[in-house]
Amino acid sequence: MSAARLTGTKYGCGSGGCGACTVMLSRYDPHCSANACLLPVVSLHGAAVVTVEGIGSTKTKLHPVQERIAKAHGSQCGFCTPGMVMSMYTLLRNQPQPSLEDIREALTGNLCRCTGYRPIVDGFKTFCGISSELFHMNGVLPLDPSQDLIFPPELMLMLQKGGGGRLCFQGNRVKWFSPADLSDLLELRAAHPNAPLVVGNTNVGEAAHSGVTFGSACSLSEVKEELQGAVGRLDPEESRVFQALLNTLRCLAGKQIRNMATVGGNILSADPKYDLSCILAAADCTLQLVSKGGTREVPLNEKFFAGFGRTHLRADEVLLSLHIPRSQPWEFVSAFRQAQRREFAFSIVNAGMKVVFKEGTDTVQSLSIFYGGMGPTLLRVKRTCEGLVGMSWNEGLLEEACRLLAEEVALPPTAHGGKTEFRSILSLSFFFKFYMQVVQELREKGVGVADLPLEYLSHCSRSYLLTILHPSHIQMVSEIQSSKDPVGRPRVHIAAFQQATGEAKYYDDLPAVSGELFVFMVTSTRAHAKIISMDFSEALRVPGAVTFLSARDVPGQNRRLWFNNTEELFAEEEVCCVGQIIGAVVAESREQAKRAAERVRVTYDDLSPVFFTIEAIQHQSFFNPKRKLERGNVDEAFGKVDRILEGEMYMGGQEHFYMETQGLIAVPRGEDGEMDLYVATQHAAFTQEVVGHTLGVDSNKITCHVKRLGGGFGGKVMKIASLSAIAATAAYKTGRAVRCVLDRGDDMLITSGRHPFLGKYKVGFMNDGTILAADITYYSNGGSTLDESSFIMEKALLHMDNGYKIPNLRGHGLVCKTHLPSYTAFRGFGGPQGLTIIESILHEVAAECGLPAEEVRAVNMYSEEESYTHHRQPFCPRDMVRCWDECLEKSDYSSRRLAVQHFNATNRWRKRGICAVPLKFGIGFSKGFYNQGAALVNIYKDGSVLVSHGGTEMGQGINTKAVQIASRILGVPMSSIHIKETCTGNVPNAAPSAASFGTDAVGMAVKDACEKLMKRLEPVMKAYPKWTWSQWVITEAYCQKISLSATGFFMGPHTSVDWEKSEGAAYYYFTFGACCSEVEIDCLTGDHKVWVTLKAGGSAGVSRWQVEGGFVQGLGLYTIEELQFSPDGALRTRGPNQYKIPALCDIPPQLNVHLLADSQNPNAIYSSKGIGEPPVFFGCTLFFAIKEAIAAARRESGLNGRFALSSPATVEKIRMACVDRFTEMVCFTSSSFQGSQQPV
Ligand SMILES: Cc1cc2nc3c(=O)[nH]c(=O)nc-3n(C[C@H](O)[C@H](O)[C@H](O)COP(=O)(O)OP(=O)(O)OC[C@H]3O[C@@H](n4cnc5c(N)ncnc54)[C@H](O)[C@@H]3O)c2cc1C
Ligand code: FES
Ligand code: FES
Repeated sequence: MSAARLTGTKYGCGSGGCGACTVMLSRYDPHCSANACLLPVVSLHGAAVVTVEGIGSTKTKLHPVQERIAKAHGSQCGFCTPGMVMSMYTLLRNQPQPSLEDIREALTGNLCRCTGYRPIVDGFKTFCGISSELFHMNGVLPLDPSQDLIFPPELMLMLQKGGGGRLCFQGNRVKWFSPADLSDLLELRAAHPNAPLVVGNTNVGEAAHSGVTFGSACSLSEVKEELQGAVGRLDPEESRVFQALLNTLRCLAGKQIRNMATVGGNILSADPKYDLSCILAAADCTLQLVSKGGTREVPLNEKFFAGFGRTHLRADEVLLSLHIPRSQPWEFVSAFRQAQRREFAFSIVNAGMKVVFKEGTDTVQSLSIFYGGMGPTLLRVKRTCEGLVGMSWNEGLLEEACRLLAEEVALPPTAHGGKTEFRSILSLSFFFKFYMQVVQELREKGVGVADLPLEYLSHCSRSYLLTILHPSHIQMVSEIQSSKDPVGRPRVHIAAFQQATGEAKYYDDLPAVSGELFVFMVTSTRAHAKIISMDFSEALRVPGAVTFLSARDVPGQNRRLWFNNTEELFAEEEVCCVGQIIGAVVAESREQAKRAAERVRVTYDDLSPVFFTIEAIQHQSFFNPKRKLERGNVDEAFGKVDRILEGEMYMGGQEHFYMETQGLIAVPRGEDGEMDLYVATQHAAFTQEVVGHTLGVDSNKITCHVKRLGGGFGGKVMKIASLSAIAATAAYKTGRAVRCVLDRGDDMLITSGRHPFLGKYKVGFMNDGTILAADITYYSNGGSTLDESSFIMEKALLHMDNGYKIPNLRGHGLVCKTHLPSYTAFRGFGGPQGLTIIESILHEVAAECGLPAEEVRAVNMYSEEESYTHHRQPFCPRDMVRCWDECLEKSDYSSRRLAVQHFNATNRWRKRGICAVPLKFGIGFSKGFYNQGAALVNIYKDGSVLVSHGGTEMGQGINTKAVQIASRILGVPMSSIHIKETCTGNVPNAAPSAASFGTDAVGMAVKDACEKLMKRLEPVMKAYPKWTWSQWVITEAYCQKISLSATGFFMGPHTSVDWEKSEGAAYYYFTFGACCSEVEIDCLTGDHKVWVTLKAGGSAGVSRWQVEGGFVQGLGLYTIEELQFSPDGALRTRGPNQYKIPALCDIPPQLNVHLLADSQNPNAIYSSKGIGEPPVFFGCTLFFAIKEAIAAARRESGLNGRFALSSPATVEKIRMACVDRFTEMVCFTSSSFQGSQQPV
């Protein structure tokens, strides 16, 4: 598609895991959405592919899907938008009047990291006739299916004529055959027994009474559709197998994958994580295999599988079809799965179970139980099943089943895949769930089984989204504001339409420069080692390879300098983490560069590494500076308190997972060392500086251009400067333009993310919960280099009080030096970690005092009008207290808490928790000199205005706000104002777009520039008051030689902290908020769901959608996203299939955002409030609500004491912490389970 200059289809992962590349694929009718990244072009013969460009454009007409996602604010950075549009468009092609459930299903395979999904659904649900408070349909295009593209007539003719013969496509390295028919396939299979079979679609047909037969090449979507039909037609007793399969298919992968993946492929992949084999085996399905020699039928069970990825299919055979029998009246079937995320995630364990009873009794006649994810292949628990035959379905059977199962499924701690205890417990939990379901069903059939407490049956309720997501509430602008004045109004992102049509250009969408090369990084495979040698001779023999780069090729300095901290661009002598860049291969194409990079041979001499924070503490391996903040006399206060508590809290890191991976294009200009970089950076000036140092060239020769980023979240500040310097070195060495685009896996490996934190604390408090003293030591895992770690630690320390006045408070901050990739800035910049530790303390104090947590929070909250933070910065907490009070009131906190208690008393296996927290978050840089903004505003002779500024547009809407501000001051409509790009040649030395401060700083600078221009125009305006803007500008100002170009500057506050004295105004101002969340957990599996009421102080406008997006990122941080490393320090979670960010299924059905009315902020532009970063922290309400729910579950097992729970509260950790009879059978569950394979 890039050859056709169709750039709307995006690369986000290359593995079917994000949906950014979604296109519509049609073989006449129906149409289906598909992941372009998984579609071999040669498989598309005869198919029509429609990309986002094909359905509408800003030049002609938008498609209603494009218009509605844009107008509903469903496009922030816009990188996911074309994929979202195509998923929805395909749905509408097949179903012009979809239901909410259809929309939910259509979007399961599309991820968005910015919006939190609510606005996307808001726009799309209008196609179901449901309008939203925030999205008005006035003037919106109606959906008119008659306007849609038709299937190309030439393809239709081709289809009518018949497929023709066998097709063969011959490439340099691969040969592809498309067989004409089944016999041709069998010929090919016999001739090429080792060639992989990649599958297309065949037919589907129902066999009269025995069940359903599917051709092996039926897609999972087709299977689902057919089963749905069968379930509708059949008696429920006959369709139990089908229902169980449907439950599984509902969560299996995303819609695009289900459209392409075949049922045969799923089975024959023989991957135990795949979900179908277990339930199909339990249901006694059979497979029909065919070869040139004939057909044979085999049962689908454990004997069919030979090992991981292997079956007993003969080399010349193919799977023709699969037969699924109907269920019989005394037969009960169920399927289970538990994954890291509820949908669109591979299961950790899955199971299929069937029991047959002697007619009219509860006596087991036969039982089959299969597990996936418990070993290299399908596991049948034969002994357990046989041991239970003849028993009655009652407590005795359950006891015996658990005893047998615990023996049969026990995994050794070293078993492949980790999470061994969790997996074993899940297998017991699944059986227990099955047991309970069957009890219920037997009862319905009038067969009395042993009495069961009513509260036990709660495990059965399982509800999913999508109910209608509740709208957010807007703070309206004042009534007297002119209707022409856009400031404060929720305007559509100015590039939203371009983003929705795929016209918006990101760095990798720029067409190749003539002679352009590609650079691919070679990274260390060792965590800590001396480099002995590097042999790149093989790499250079790969066709297309041009050169190899290492430290020796750097013309200037091989280091990135940041506040006196240096970091090597290429490791020279020693590597200090897996993923450290040691060299790079430059080649003619990206595939060639990648292939060549794989052939670079490096020999190492290993040194001993340190990975974990606790190891670093033991070795005293810390970076400098070590920070401390102290107020009051902590030690003395400990002598005066009623109680003292000591504990610790660990919080894991987080991957940015911006949808656009990092990269750039470096274009040498061939004159005077000039070089242009088209780069995805949040800090263009720093990139420019680093490239200059690397090339040994002055900054005035290096120009960085940033059009927009597909998300940044703090991850595109530092490492991108190193990548730019390397690409620039390649361009310098070859004299040709060089493109660098990190694969998703490399991006995750090389650039790293949010710091893991460990907080150890001692807290002294009175019996009413008043905290008098707290001593907290924060340890962050900084990774192998300092990067921004010390500033991040400072921010954590500066937020350690949150909204609480703790008179004696001491915090130490130490950054651990380990051999992991260097952790870096991430939305919140240490704030969430600092805040979470103090909230954990509040939570523990409340539990210890036996008081409701909200009471303890309220009693400790700052309340004086003139309060001082622990670093002695004055502030007024009035708005925080208002947010807190309103949050409790609007969320109906008191009655909800009672309802939670009631729910917990009446449900044994599901528990609820509720938590509310306040927030005080510092806005601006504590390094005072960064608090500056610059802009350049040009008015052209036709009256149009061009604004340039130093910020980066990455979805937060900085350009939209800059245009709104310019529009207000200049009095011209927004449509006459344009922002082209961020360019270091226009606005020099700009601060990074970070710290929730970019808009404030840039907005002020734009305002300043516009005011200067207005001042110059004032005499003309006064002289000709009736003239229009153009007349003033064109007719008079230009002729009077009035300069129509002005720079604007904003000199922000001089924040700084004196760390010796523990004092200083660290922030420009504070943003306040409060949040309340309610969750429900499944104690048997760890699954959880969320309801939320959220409240935040802030201004209206584009940024308000950031509140929801930030919150959902926090939801990921605190409950889902988990980085995993191998024992030798290699990141294992290197793509969306291993690392899960929140998907649509994770979003709370109620997410109410209220912006505080009448809150003024005299410090920032037009009372705006920095709300980009703070809402991430609100995700911690989910964590503490989950902890409360777990505590309720533990009380059922007689465990009343404190217990440790580290963040994120993943399904694994939740399940392990809900100690019960099953956990005790499998393991020695420690009360402080910290999760698998995570550096602590
Ligand atoms: C992002 C993503 C998420 C996923 N999530 C899940 C999930 O949650 N649960 C789950 O169960 N699966 C999941 N999958 C796996 C998916 O279901 C399988 O990849 C798919 O079913 C394989 O079907 P296919 O047609 O693409 O097979 P192919 O990839 O074409 O083939 C797979 C294997 O089967 C062989 N094969 C296929 N058909 C035949 C035949 N008729 N005769 C002989 N050999 C044959 C092929 O030679 C190959 O070895 C996911 C996949 C992706 C990419
Ligand atoms: S790029 Fe295709 S799914 Fe992510
Ligand atoms: S708008 Fe969805 S990823 Fe940015």
